[in-house]
Amino acid sequence: MTSSNTQSIHAASAVEMPLIDTRELRNTFGMFATGVTAITALGENDQLVGITANSFSSLSLDPALILWSLVLSSPSVSAFDEGKYFNVNILSQSQEAIAMQLATRSEDKFSAVQYCLSPTGVPLLDGALATLQCQVEFTRVAGDHLLIVGRVLDFDRVDEGEPLVFYRGGFKQLCN
Ligand SMILES: Cc1cc2nc3c(=O)[nH]c(=O)nc-3n(C[C@H](O)[C@H](O)[C@H](O)COP(=O)(O)O)c2cc1C
Repeated sequence: MTSSNTQSIHAASAVEMPLIDTRELRNTFGMFATGVTAITALGENDQLVGITANSFSSLSLDPALILWSLVLSSPSVSAFDEGKYFNVNILSQSQEAIAMQLATRSEDKFSAVQYCLSPTGVPLLDGALATLQCQVEFTRVAGDHLLIVGRVLDFDRVDEGEPLVFYRGGFKQLCN
């Protein structure tokens, strides 16, 4: 890098940026269409934890890693301490009601949800397009969220059906 480039980078970092309008930022983030997952885990006293999340992303094939983020104000943060188990359930377009239910704070989120337990004791949702059984590799606080990196222990998929899609703040169908 030339010294003039170095100087221009330093100059750029000194530029005053306007204050960020978080509502506008949220709307801008919402232009990125995503799938929808239901993250399941075990909370205190082995209470079932379920959280709708679209921050999921694949991360690494070797080792097999995924990531997602959880808002720090969630009562379920401690369910994702390092070494704990969780499952990623990739939702189908017929599972919008489950996505809504797991996005709403409640004592019994699983009352109308059909599931079985993985060998790690965590719910695997019936009807999911794919599931990933994971163990928390590490976490890191990043702003107002906890970044959770999980190691994939096992996985399964059905190879049919359509994904639930989230775009601009609403659920959408994938057009073929
Ligand atoms: C489509 C969709 C995607 C969401 N993605 C996330 C996410 O990635 N991380 C997160 O912390 N909350 C996300 N939420 C909000 C949580 O689902 C919700 O705040 C939380 O699960 C409420 O339950 P709790 O308070 O028991 O945690 C999402 C909600 C919806 C509807």
